[in-house]
Amino acid sequence: MARQVAHEIKNPLTPMKLSLQYLQKAIEQKAPNVPELSAQVSHTLIEQINHLNKIAGDFSQFAHIGESARERVDLNAVLHSVLSLYQSDERASLHYQLPETPVWVIADKTHLNRLFNNLLLNAIQAVPDDRMGQIELQEQIREGRVRVSISDNGQGIDESLRANIFTPNFTTKTSGTGLGLAMCKRIVEQADGEIWFDTVPGQGTTFYVQFPITAD
Ligand SMILES: Nc1ncnc2c1ncn2[C@@H]1O[C@H](COP(=O)(O)OP(=O)(O)OP(=O)(O)O)[C@@H](O)[C@H]1O
Ligand SMILES: [Mg+2]
Repeated sequence: MARQVAHEIKNPLTPMKLSLQYLQKAIEQKAPNVPELSAQVSHTLIEQINHLNKIAGDFSQFAHIGESARERVDLNAVLHSVLSLYQSDERASLHYQLPETPVWVIADKTHLNRLFNNLLLNAIQAVPDDRMGQIELQEQIREGRVRVSISDNGQGIDESLRANIFTPNFTTKTSGTGLGLAMCKRIVEQADGEIWFDTVPGQGTTFYVQFPITAD
């Protein structure tokens, strides 16, 4: 894991240094395009710094995922709170209907937040640019269990990739660390739940998570 972090961090560092050295040279030579070049270089550097920040954050969250609390959490309150973050997202419109009554599960509240954030973000990111995202969240209660499904109208998951998506560091995105679903799986399992998916390439994907409900 440490080697992976080092590798992920070193990747953006080299182009960052190169672009600064290029700017340095332009300044030394009093090149006329120094203002434009500075703007361009700072834009790239800020982007890369944001990426480094994400890598550090993701790895640290992943390393600490074992330290989970087991508290009584209202799953619906968590869902309402996470969904409100994506309410005004321009990339997708969100559809859901949740009961107002609480559904109690035993889990770590912060981890549940992270779980649904990751799944919603993946759903939104799966939608091709030429399509308006339609994300639907549903909840079903049956036989003492609560099942939440998150469906998207995205690109789907190719058959050849399906076995790998929960593996740490597996990603098909240029700016992903591939820790999202690996973390989701651990979070769900720590709450004695399950996670799985259905997908149709070109049409969309549904992720399911299911937890035992605890008596109130
Ligand atoms: N809803 C989805 N539709 C299509 N593909 C998906 C979906 N969710 C996940 N995937 C695939 O699974 C891979 C792994 O997902 P995961 O969340 O672990 O990492 P990531 O999203 O690539 O990066 P990160 O979460 O670190 O930003 C993704 O790169 C993508 O190929
Ligand atoms: Mg992700």
